[in-house]
Amino acid sequence: MRVIIVDSAADVAAAAAARIVRAVNRARKHSRAAVLGLATGSSPLGTYEALAALVRDGSLDLRGVSGFALDEYVGLDHAHPESYHAVIRTSVTEPLGLDPAFVRVPDGLASDLSAACEAYEQSIADAGGVDLQLLGIGTNGHIGFNEPTSSFGSRTRLKTLTPQTRRDNARFFDSLEQVPMHALTQGIGTILEARELVLVANGEGKASAVAAMIEGPLSSMCPASALQLHPNAAVIIDRAAASQLNYTEYYEQVEANAHLVE
Ligand code: F6R
Repeated sequence: MRVIIVDSAADVAAAAAARIVRAVNRARKHSRAAVLGLATGSSPLGTYEALAALVRDGSLDLRGVSGFALDEYVGLDHAHPESYHAVIRTSVTEPLGLDPAFVRVPDGLASDLSAACEAYEQSIADAGGVDLQLLGIGTNGHIGFNEPTSSFGSRTRLKTLTPQTRRDNARFFDSLEQVPMHALTQGIGTILEARELVLVANGEGKASAVAAMIEGPLSSMCPASALQLHPNAAVIIDRAAASQLNYTEYYEQVEANAHLVE
C-alpha cells in the first residue's frame, strides 16, 4: 500500500486527480476508455473539482469513460438531492462531461433489490471491470457502505447502516430521522477486484480509522483494512488524517525516493 501524506485537502485532490488522469491515459493507450469507480460523500469532491478544471481547460477529455458508483441509499427518490443518483449527476457526470448512459448507480428503488445488486455486478463485469476505484473512508472504517463486520468476500448487496454512519451523514439531511436505514453497496470483494484503488481522506476525524486501515490488523471490524490485500492501492491523506500513524517517517521516506524505483 502506498501511503501519501500531503499538506492540504487541495494537495490530496490534486494527487488523486493525477492518478485518475494516469488511469484514463493508460486505458487510452490500449485503445479503450477507462472504467472508473466513483465514491460519493465529501472526501472525493475536491478530486472531482480538480478533474473538472482539467476538462474545462481542455487538457482532459473524458468522453467515452464510464463510471460505477459505489453505493446508493435504499428508498430515496433519485430526484432527492442527497440520493447518490443526484450527487453523482451533479458532482461527477455533468462537471466531467461524462455520458450519463455510461454512468451507473445501484438502484435503491428497485422492487427486487437483490436482483438489482446482481445486475449491478453483471454490468461491472460487462464493462470489463473497474480500472480505478476512488474511495473515501467512514469514521468507523467503512468503505462504500461496508460497515464493520462486513465480509471481505462480499459482493454488491443490501447493508443496514450503523447508527454512527447515520449520525455522520445526518449533516447532508435536515434531520437524523431522514437518513435512510439501508443502502446498496458494492461489496469489499467487488471493490478489491478494481485494478487500482485510491482512497482519499482529510481531517482529524478520520485519523483513527486511517490508522486502523493502514497499521491495524486485517479485520472486518475495519473494512478499509482490506486495502492491505490489494496489490495496487494508494491512500492519499492530509497531515491531520495521518496524525495517528506510527510509521509516518517511513512513508515519507518511501515517497521521497519513489522516483528512484519507479
Ligand atoms: C460514499 C461512500 C462512503 C464515504 C464515507 C466517507 O460513496 O462510499 O464510504 O466515502 O462515508 O464520507 P465523507 O467523505 O463524506 O466523510
